Amino acid sequence: MFKRPVFNNTLLNWYQANKRELPWRETSDPFKIWLSEVMLQQTQVITVIPYFEKFITKYENLDALADADEQALLKDWEGLGYYNRIRNFQHAVKEVQEKYDSKVPNRPEEFFKLKGVGPYIGGAVQSIAFNNQLAAVDGNVLRVMSRLNRDGRDMTKASVQKDVKHFIEKDMPLEAGDFNQALMELGATICTPRTPKCVICPVKEHCEALKANEVMQYPLKKKQKAKKEYYYNVYFILNDKDEILLIKQEDDLLKGMYELPRFDVDTSLESIEEKYNLQLTRPGAPIGDHKHVFTHKIWFMEGYIVYTANEHENFIPLRDVKKLPMSIAMQKMLNLINAEPDSKL
Ligand code: ADE
Repeated sequence: MFKRPVFNNTLLNWYQANKRELPWRETSDPFKIWLSEVMLQQTQVITVIPYFEKFITKYENLDALADADEQALLKDWEGLGYYNRIRNFQHAVKEVQEKYDSKVPNRPEEFFKLKGVGPYIGGAVQSIAFNNQLAAVDGNVLRVMSRLNRDGRDMTKASVQKDVKHFIEKDMPLEAGDFNQALMELGATICTPRTPKCVICPVKEHCEALKANEVMQYPLKKKQKAKKEYYYNVYFILNDKDEILLIKQEDDLLKGMYELPRFDVDTSLESIEEKYNLQLTRPGAPIGDHKHVFTHKIWFMEGYIVYTANEHENFIPLRDVKKLPMSIAMQKMLNLINAEPDSKL
């Protein structure tokens, strides 16, 4: 077991001297820190930076985001994925607006009750914004801790993560926010998954895995489950008014996002006609395809153009399509017909 006070000081000093300049490190506004952590929870730093800059320019305080139109927020979030993050965040900031006079609560027991606030977001925001002594355990931190402690437990298990959190909190320094960010920074820049830079690691003397020359064996790798594959036909249903049929998602994860009609490959055209109450022309050959790899699944999509003379409330002018929030998977499909303003099919 390593000596925590010595370790803590060494790590904090290293962080002060080596931390990256990141936009959310230039603010002490709890709202902005919270926003950054919501973005960073499932997305890499390099991807988050431009989105963070855009959001704090457009929604410069908690009230601006709470009062924003949900469609506009989803559109601005487009490309970051995990769209329920921004919907939950707006739900939570609305609650802060109503219950706490638009001030992010600095009492963990209040903050943790808000929508979308789990152990990671809660620990990160409460420590970085208010120096409350809570750990923020993300993937980087789990890797660092598994190597330091030569801990061969399954780091994907919630019970193990809870234990790691308690281990960190047991000797948490007063500078809790910096300490959490220092652990993350170490994981992101030195203690990386495939090419850890142990030679220049500031805490190498504390690392049990390094002492055993087993750094690459930690964290223990479980066999990756193969991603499930889904095969879809995607329909560009067009009318003679330069309009296209788009479906607004109701499903929990993509709620509020728009989609082209997407069906299992063995779905008959008749059942699609029935579903939308439309008569459709027979599709020709597919106009193109796109394979989209998600975290746990892969979509194989083929696009078909069909026409209808019928009316439907979901028809959207082609020139407006790009104004709507849409997942990257669907944008890639739409690019097959180049649905730019004024483009001709
Ligand atoms: N990843 C998650 N939170 C972070 C932060 N505050 N700084 C850098 N990377 C992070």
